[in-house]
Amino acid sequence: MPEMVSDKIHDEQKQGTAYAPVSNNLSPNKKHFYIESYGCAMNFADSEVVASVLMDYGFGATADCALADLILINTCSIREKAETTVRKRLTEFRKLKRLNPGLLVGVLGCMAERLKEKFLEEEKLVDLVVGPDAYRSLPGLIEEAETGMKSVNVLLSRDETYADIAPVRLNSNGVTAFVSIMRGCNNMCSFCVVPFTRGRERSRNAASIVQECENLFAQGYREVTLLGQNVDSYHWVDETGHEIVSFAMLMEKVAKISPLLRVRFSTSHPKDITDEVLFTIKQYKNICNYIHLPVQSGSSRVLQMMNRTYSREWYLAKVDRIREIIPDCGISTDMITGFCSETEEDHQQSISLMEYCRYDLAYLYFYSERPGTLAARRFEDDVPLEVKKRRLKELVDLYRIHSLQSMERDLGKTVEVLVEGSSKKSEHELSGRTGQNKVVVFPKMQFKPGDYVTVIIDKCTAGTLIGIPVLQP
Ligand code: SAM
Ligand code: SF4
Ligand code: F3S
Repeated sequence: MPEMVSDKIHDEQKQGTAYAPVSNNLSPNKKHFYIESYGCAMNFADSEVVASVLMDYGFGATADCALADLILINTCSIREKAETTVRKRLTEFRKLKRLNPGLLVGVLGCMAERLKEKFLEEEKLVDLVVGPDAYRSLPGLIEEAETGMKSVNVLLSRDETYADIAPVRLNSNGVTAFVSIMRGCNNMCSFCVVPFTRGRERSRNAASIVQECENLFAQGYREVTLLGQNVDSYHWVDETGHEIVSFAMLMEKVAKISPLLRVRFSTSHPKDITDEVLFTIKQYKNICNYIHLPVQSGSSRVLQMMNRTYSREWYLAKVDRIREIIPDCGISTDMITGFCSETEEDHQQSISLMEYCRYDLAYLYFYSERPGTLAARRFEDDVPLEVKKRRLKELVDLYRIHSLQSMERDLGKTVEVLVEGSSKKSEHELSGRTGQNKVVVFPKMQFKPGDYVTVIIDKCTAGTLIGIPVLQP
């Protein structure tokens, strides 16, 4: 699924941003936690579960790590660079710990799961190491760590979905929210560490998902993104065994909450997305016409080595089918350059696939070998770094042309924008997104976050549409 930064394509895409919670008003009788998240949206959603567990336990939240009694860093292992970023951040927390020896530092998430106790040996200042399925045990682990012991819980679960925990929305814009619908992944793509750090795939109780979305809508939220590593394999059977809920059915249930609640979802695995899902998107105006459909490579030979279980032709047929059923659907992708044994010819296949698909958005990376994965065990990481980077640059350059063309196609069009907040550049402008996930900036006038505004597009950059609201009589 896409990492949190959508408009930056570097040689290695930024892994996520620091994420500070709620407010800075410390209450005198409480201990306070500070949490920072890296990686994919699932990690950001998990931090909101962690915040809920800690607040139930009596902690308050602070946005200033220097004021915290407990610093948590929710980590990502997807590429080596993600881990390097975390280690750098930990050296900064080490300085704070020197000033305040009572301060506890905890590492959560995928890197905690990957490194387990080794983390405590490698990073002496860390007091807690907690894997993604162990957040309920945080209070006990904190108590243990307060006695000076190091605490670790990295047990993965077959059924934990945190279904009954109401996430505390951190740093929220009050309009858009992530809702986790499943955890783990069974796919075993050979390059990927996620099945090892997140465990077996499991779906969350459908009723609890709908309830969470209803609560969000009642609180004024106007968009939910249903999250999972592979949402199309969502499958829930209720306790009586009577109700079986597929992903399409789940989307329908959420879409029916209100026509004013937009529904997004991420990520779709090309092998699993069905016509049922596509027709459901088409049927409901409030389900966004936007699909993140990562291809990873344009070469069938490389796709086979990646264990993606589809070929180039199969993927292209899927893109055709999406465009046939939902002609204006935005499509985005993830691609990796320089996977083991990738030849110049394989790379040209990725280029030509990109030419065919003309993605609206693309998250592009060069291959980073991850210890323990199938690829690390079976294949040699034999494409030199400079070749990986050169191929990546070629894909990025092509993608930039396509993304600008995608924006230019909207010039003169009228689009519906859900306002998320002020634009980055000016208090006098608002920013929001179209159903196709394009960012639109326009003059504020009488509008506010959470409003749906009809905007005529008259300018664009490669990342932003710029327009004027159409005022209703
Ligand atoms: N579940 C999603 C899917 O199947 O497409 C993707 C999840 S992963 C968190 C996000 C992206 O990171 C992947 O789609 C892939 O492009 C990239 N990625 C994963 N492992 C990688 C690796 N070892 N090196 C470089 N990029 C990697
Ligand atoms: Fe990783 Fe593949 Fe699962 Fe996505 S589907 S999380 S790339 S193993
Ligand atoms: Fe996400 Fe990174 Fe883990 S992308 S699932 S936080 S390895």
